[in-house]
Amino acid sequence: MTSKYLSLTMPRAYDSVSDLIELWRAKRDLCRGKTWSAASDLEGATMDAICGMAFGHPWGVIRQYTGVVKTMSLRHLPLDSSGAVEFKLLAPDLAESTWRIFTSIPLRGPFPRLSHFITRLSSSYRRQALLVDRFLDSKLVEAREKARVLGAETAIELADNTLDMMVARELKGDDWMTDTEMKQELFQYLLAGTETSSTTLSWWCKFMTNHPEVQRKLRDHLIHRLPWIKDRRPGFVELNATNVPYLEAVVHETLRLSRTAGGVARETKEDILVLGRTIPKGSTIVLPTSVGCQDLSDVAPDTQYLDKATDDYDATWIDEKARPGGLDDTGRSEGDGSSRKVGYWKSGTGLLFDPERWMDKDGNFDLHAGPSMPFSLGQRGCFGKNLAMLELRVFIAQLNIAFFFAPISDEQNGFQRVETVTSHPRYSYISPIPWRADEAREGP
Ligand code: HEM
Repeated sequence: MTSKYLSLTMPRAYDSVSDLIELWRAKRDLCRGKTWSAASDLEGATMDAICGMAFGHPWGVIRQYTGVVKTMSLRHLPLDSSGAVEFKLLAPDLAESTWRIFTSIPLRGPFPRLSHFITRLSSSYRRQALLVDRFLDSKLVEAREKARVLGAETAIELADNTLDMMVARELKGDDWMTDTEMKQELFQYLLAGTETSSTTLSWWCKFMTNHPEVQRKLRDHLIHRLPWIKDRRPGFVELNATNVPYLEAVVHETLRLSRTAGGVARETKEDILVLGRTIPKGSTIVLPTSVGCQDLSDVAPDTQYLDKATDDYDATWIDEKARPGGLDDTGRSEGDGSSRKVGYWKSGTGLLFDPERWMDKDGNFDLHAGPSMPFSLGQRGCFGKNLAMLELRVFIAQLNIAFFFAPISDEQNGFQRVETVTSHPRYSYISPIPWRADEAREGP
């Protein structure tokens, strides 16, 4: 994905976060100080964003829902056991159907293939799959016609969404896929781009709720570096790591600590030696992307999150031999090199949310400050990484300028995880309020 293409798709991310801000203002007015869960709002907003980026037009999930929320009355809304207002997102049919297909993938249970096969036989599933398929067909026809009229070169030049780019390249003869493959690619794009981004943003809301000082610093930083940010949308370059390094640090720290994609799996094609152990051909290796989150410290990590999230923390994995300086070099596999490009996180700080860890002494963002690989690495690493980074920068900057995430009760503030395709926070309650007139420096 080139910078030019990313800049062209950027307005879609801005439109989606603007709709989300409008929704949260409406919910805030309605809830009068009560909290609600951000999870489904974020799913809707990231689905709008990714659809906009994939097809050029969002499905309007959040815009339609905001219209409904504005007609609601608090008296008719239920509260959950923690006292938060319970909403149910009502989405357009296409979005509902897409969600249904996403969630039909069985993640637990002894016979996932069989269970998915049975789900696919149901008439409601088939109806929804047909709706999505017809939508993708019609978009494909539209995009091909547009590219044909423009000509391949111009179509590539003007492409501001993935589908237009794919068909323009097809017309030029650079890529060729069957229609089915093209539709599967697009659907995978929707699937891979929605839940990952929304889960990461749910974690970000939690980190902000627990770190008012980071919210204030980020807001100060954005207003200082981009003084006009409340009046116009920053462009692709304006929002980069050099211009707004602290924003970049907050995004990287959110990705590092949220561990959205817990791990990736690979099958070994041949016997391989890793740190002195032979892994036979045909083994499935699961690689945690959480490297760099739980550091290799022998010091008890800060308990701020552990108290709340101990169920996924196992101190017994800390291995003396694996500590910096403690590696047994004889066990290294050949070719892993000894000159290390990436630094180490300070002992005992791995589970702390601390964007400063990414900043150097001159206030610049340092990508190699320490380990983190939320998008995995290599040839099969995340295809949408640059798009996801762009989306996160846009969402985080705009939400930070619009709201202060006020503290919430301990009961609603748990840090436990729920593992599905991604690793979600169990509780995503928020209380976003407008900044006060004297704003970032003193906070609301
Ligand atoms: C915060 C957001 C995201 C995170 C944390 C994330 C993380 C990942 C990870 C860990 C993988 C597995 C890579 C591997 O197996 O080595 C992956 C694959 C993939 N991601 Fe993302 N992703 C994110 C957003 C996106 C977005 C926005 C898109 C689409 C625009 C996307 C499209 C894909 C695709 C298509 C693959 C499969 C690549 C392949 O198998 O070759 N991702 N992602």
